[in-house]
Amino acid sequence: MCGIVGCIGRDDDTLDILMGGLRSLEYRGYDSAGIAMGPSGEVLKRSGELDALEDALETTPLTGTFGIGHTRWSTHGPPTDRNAHPHTDESDRVAVVHNGIIENYSELKAALEADGVTFSSDTDTEVVPHLIAQALDQGESPETAFHNTVDKLEGSYAIAAIIDDEETIYAARQGSPLVVGVDDNSTFLASDVPAFVDHTRDVVFLEDGQRVIATPSGFSVLDETRQPVEVDIETVSYTADETGKSGYDHYMLKEIYEQPTSLRQSFSGRVDALEGSITFEEVEEIPQPDAVQFVACGTSYHAALYGAALLRERGIPAEAYLASEYALSPPPLTLGTLVVGITQSGETADTLAALRDAQSRGVTTLALTNTVNSTAARECDHALYIRAGPEIGVAATKTFSSQLVGCNLLVEKLADSSPDLRPLIESLRDLPGDVQEVLDTSGAQTLVDEYGNSDAYFFIGRGTNVSVALEGALKCKEISYEHAEGFPAGELKHGPLALVTPETPVFAVVTGNDERAQKTLGSIKEVQARGAPVIAVTDGQSAAAEIVDEILEIPETHQRLAPVLANVQLQLFSYYLADALGRPIDKPRNLAKSVTVE
Ligand code: F6R
Repeated sequence: MCGIVGCIGRDDDTLDILMGGLRSLEYRGYDSAGIAMGPSGEVLKRSGELDALEDALETTPLTGTFGIGHTRWSTHGPPTDRNAHPHTDESDRVAVVHNGIIENYSELKAALEADGVTFSSDTDTEVVPHLIAQALDQGESPETAFHNTVDKLEGSYAIAAIIDDEETIYAARQGSPLVVGVDDNSTFLASDVPAFVDHTRDVVFLEDGQRVIATPSGFSVLDETRQPVEVDIETVSYTADETGKSGYDHYMLKEIYEQPTSLRQSFSGRVDALEGSITFEEVEEIPQPDAVQFVACGTSYHAALYGAALLRERGIPAEAYLASEYALSPPPLTLGTLVVGITQSGETADTLAALRDAQSRGVTTLALTNTVNSTAARECDHALYIRAGPEIGVAATKTFSSQLVGCNLLVEKLADSSPDLRPLIESLRDLPGDVQEVLDTSGAQTLVDEYGNSDAYFFIGRGTNVSVALEGALKCKEISYEHAEGFPAGELKHGPLALVTPETPVFAVVTGNDERAQKTLGSIKEVQARGAPVIAVTDGQSAAAEIVDEILEIPETHQRLAPVLANVQLQLFSYYLADALGRPIDKPRNLAKSVTVE
């Protein structure tokens, strides 16, 4: 979703820093971009990729010593030059960038129009510069005009503004992410740390309601009553190198290959193979719940399905809910229910809304997230970090694997009496090596030659492998733009089988040799009878390998971890399919990394 950057306190490299920051936020997804520089007040914005803005800067260079920039992901109005941010007032005294949605913009716009203000875009954002300008006209100082304007806004926003020839950036956060970067000479603002991690790792994570006044001599943070707030400056652990592509063609491929490391990070220091015990440094006391409700979206929802299945196996009632449905029709719960939000970014608006709904009903909440100090982490009673490291590709890969590991650890923490955990812990410790083996030996790329021109791709599994089937299909469709669907294998005959033809390869995820695996063999026969080629993703324990056309093999492991390995094979297939089709893998059309609007 939209990305904001800002920089003040440098002399001559501000424009480069802003453009570099916008490049680092490309992963969030965007369809237009722009920059405003102060004190000149010059603005340049272009629809399309950042290259279009860069080309425009060559012919129309901007001058100034501080500035704000923006990548826009359209909500109000199509992705055109005029709808791109920054937005200005009629006399170009004020320039504003915004992430989020101003819910009362229609009323504000109507009142401004009644006062004779002419709007030049379709956006909700444009009310902000006009309101500030109107306040300036009424004799308010720039800072007061900014505060009074922010007070009028309802909805979610992170806003940054420059006003007149004041050497100041004004910013506010309410419901959309905004962080401040600090070094000896300058202050940075951004939607996310990668935008300035080349320059500083010292960060202030703003709270909702906080505002920032940044000048060349430093910055102050105020609360919504305009009182100064003491803030902690934290040093983030990741470096610019971790957020680069390190020689891979795409972030997605890099992140797939990082999984041996990211998985190790997820469990290291948390498991004791000798004792067979699990500890988390962040969360020691989570009360044992009567029931667990998971809320999540997209890939994280698939992890939630997996987590709920594990909990039910351990005797704890558990369900996974799509967060976008949860807050609108909240399921009943008792005060002993634990609500767990699974969210890589910790900023997904639907997931935050579901967690807030749960909190309003008085239950304990926990964020299972990758992002330290994200909104979910801060708002929930407990935060458990999956420690996968920064994920830049829009398609979630390594964070899904780490979410599955996180679910395994959490389940055993919540279960009343644990069985002997040593076999699971030993398999966890082998997991990075097993993933490496899949990466080193996978035949997924060669399958693209054979099946890359198919009509559609189907994915089936049972039990925890349903999560893998759904995730395999989501990854395939989002980056290849090909039709892909995942089903619980048992559902095929209740409808999806009508889609199956010789031109629709079916990926069957069959691990272990229990009753579910046996039944999946029956599902394989069903699709084969309709002529579909079948690719088994299997550890070879069942007879699947003997009856299918192709095999993507995974090493044998603990049955709870086999889905992690199977999923890596499907990640690779989707990646190579999308690559063969020439898709923009790291930035699929219409999608954003961090979905900060409901
Ligand atoms: C798909 C993908 C999305 C996210 C979803 C939730 O590859 O990344 O489906 O999983 O938008 O995002 P988080 O986990 O940040 O809440």
